[in-house]
Amino acid sequence: MATAFSPAQIMKTNASDLLRDLDLTDDELLHLLDLAAEVKQSPRDYARALDGKSIALLFEKPSLRTRLTFELAIKQLGGDALFVDGPIGVREPLKDVARNLDRWVDGIVARVFQQATVEGLAEWSAVPVINALSDLYHPCQALGDAQTLREHFGDLKGRKVAFIGDGNNVAHSLMLTSLRLGADFAIGCPEGYTPDPDIVAQAEGLAAVSGASLLITHDTARALAGAHAVYTDVWTSMGQEQELVKRKKSFHEFQVDDELFAQARPDAIFMHCLPAKRGEEVTDSIMEHRRSAIFDQAENRLHAQKALLLMMLS
Ligand code: CP
Repeated sequence: MATAFSPAQIMKTNASDLLRDLDLTDDELLHLLDLAAEVKQSPRDYARALDGKSIALLFEKPSLRTRLTFELAIKQLGGDALFVDGPIGVREPLKDVARNLDRWVDGIVARVFQQATVEGLAEWSAVPVINALSDLYHPCQALGDAQTLREHFGDLKGRKVAFIGDGNNVAHSLMLTSLRLGADFAIGCPEGYTPDPDIVAQAEGLAAVSGASLLITHDTARALAGAHAVYTDVWTSMGQEQELVKRKKSFHEFQVDDELFAQARPDAIFMHCLPAKRGEEVTDSIMEHRRSAIFDQAENRLHAQKALLLMMLS
């Protein structure tokens, strides 16, 4: 059966790995989002694309969405997923782990504490390595988020994405991806929780090219004014549990509740990467709001990651 994207039409990524959002070129990102939309519409057309391929999933941190959407994506594309949890590079050196996997599998998906771990896996193995979350980036989340934003708003040029909360890995990837797609991006965060300066420098470069604007502020009203999407994430990410009490105090004014959400556009959608702590960064009423897109985002992780696997491995 003919597909909108025959195997020959699927663009191979120039980069051998996806360790950071900017490893994909602008053209590759746009192609991936078009392919993800097509895969979502006609999943059976791609059922044999990874025939005979095995992909290792190495997870140092817990996961519901990332693990299941990668396992399902690989299975629905005809490949095999092999899951291993626990620390990477403790029982034996990282470079030995990478070189073992290199002999067995066709790709590695890794969820890690430190960005250096995915970088090391990529350095010591020839197979593609996909960052499934590190301390700095969550590129696969941003791909599903971009697909969701395009479903709601079409072309993102001239739209505005507002992130309220911690300038963390999810905020970094969302910031980079939104700006590349031409959307204005604002983050409203407490003092001491602004995004990483090196990643902000990358974002400023992207904004200069796309013409989109970047705002980093401690004033939530400024961040939310005119926003088409209001995004938040937990105040205390995995591995920061010892900062829980301090963070609850610092983020107290940054909860997305009815009052804050009403400061965005009247048609704004609510977004969250999940898992959420209801009653902390977001209220129950916003999670359940009719303009909440959180489960669209969760679903699109599957389609966007399928498109990524097709571009890197098929
Ligand atoms: N959003 C996300 O990465 O979810 P998990 O932690 O459940 O994988």
